[in-house]
Amino acid sequence: MPTVLITGANRGLGLGFVTQYAGEGWRVIASCRTPGEAETLGRFSAENGQVSVVQMDVSDHGSVDACAAQLTGQPIDVLINNAGIASDDFAHQMLGGFDFENWEAILRTNTLGPMKVSEALLSNIKVGAQKKIAVVSSTVGSLTQMNEYPIYPYATSKAALNKGILLMAEQLRNDGVSVLCLCPGHVKTDMGLKAEGASVEVVDAVAGMRDEISNLTMATSGSFKRYNGETISW
Ligand SMILES: NC(=O)c1ccc[n+]([C@@H]2O[C@H](COP(=O)([O-])OP(=O)(O)OC[C@H]3O[C@@H](n4cnc5c(N)ncnc54)[C@H](OP(=O)(O)O)[C@@H]3O)[C@@H](O)[C@H]2O)c1
Repeated sequence: MPTVLITGANRGLGLGFVTQYAGEGWRVIASCRTPGEAETLGRFSAENGQVSVVQMDVSDHGSVDACAAQLTGQPIDVLINNAGIASDDFAHQMLGGFDFENWEAILRTNTLGPMKVSEALLSNIKVGAQKKIAVVSSTVGSLTQMNEYPIYPYATSKAALNKGILLMAEQLRNDGVSVLCLCPGHVKTDMGLKAEGASVEVVDAVAGMRDEISNLTMATSGSFKRYNGETISW
């Protein structure tokens, strides 16, 4: 069976990906920053032999390199860059109240994190059969949509991530690696419930994004898709 590596796999959408891929028999490498505290994931892994838990903090490059070293030579069919953060305080995300330290932390996790993880695991992906990299981005990062929702740090972190993904899709085309940018919708997770209006269940967001990953080909590499199949304008 194929292998998927998921970042931020201990709760929310990440845990949803773990349970659904494992349910279909995939080998799952579930990464999270504090495995010792990931009780639900730990229990699931203990009950499902094909799910292994590894430590990786995507904002700590030493931690990413250590995880990659542990996986040297192991093929990864699909990498899902899912880990992400948003500010708890909307006032600090808006012009007039910026908290630049928090903004830097969001950029480090949401933008640099997926770039660093993808780079560190590229040799594993290249020896995988499917050779796919997906990122869980957001429509909030679109340059043309949701501009009435001024959460600057989170929005700019996803916009910059999107550009990185487009560049990566082009650069990796000759290697046969396909790259996909995803939006899960407004999902009922810890993050999603910080803002009013979360309406999408984790199970549906994950199922939809898995369909998009499954349908990804070299011809559609570099696309931006919502969990329900819609194409999002950059
Ligand atoms: N929920 C939504 O409505 C929505 C909408 C658009 C996009 N997204 C994106 O979807 C992704 C998943 O979000 P979610 O809704 O599932 O949020 P969530 O429930 O808050 O989960 C976030 C996950 O990311 C992990 N994480 C955060 N920083 C990390 C780091 N430095 N290293 C490793 N893991 C880290 C968290 O681990 P800890 O438990 O250790 O904190 C947690 O597992 C994010 O990229 C988010 O931006 C979500």
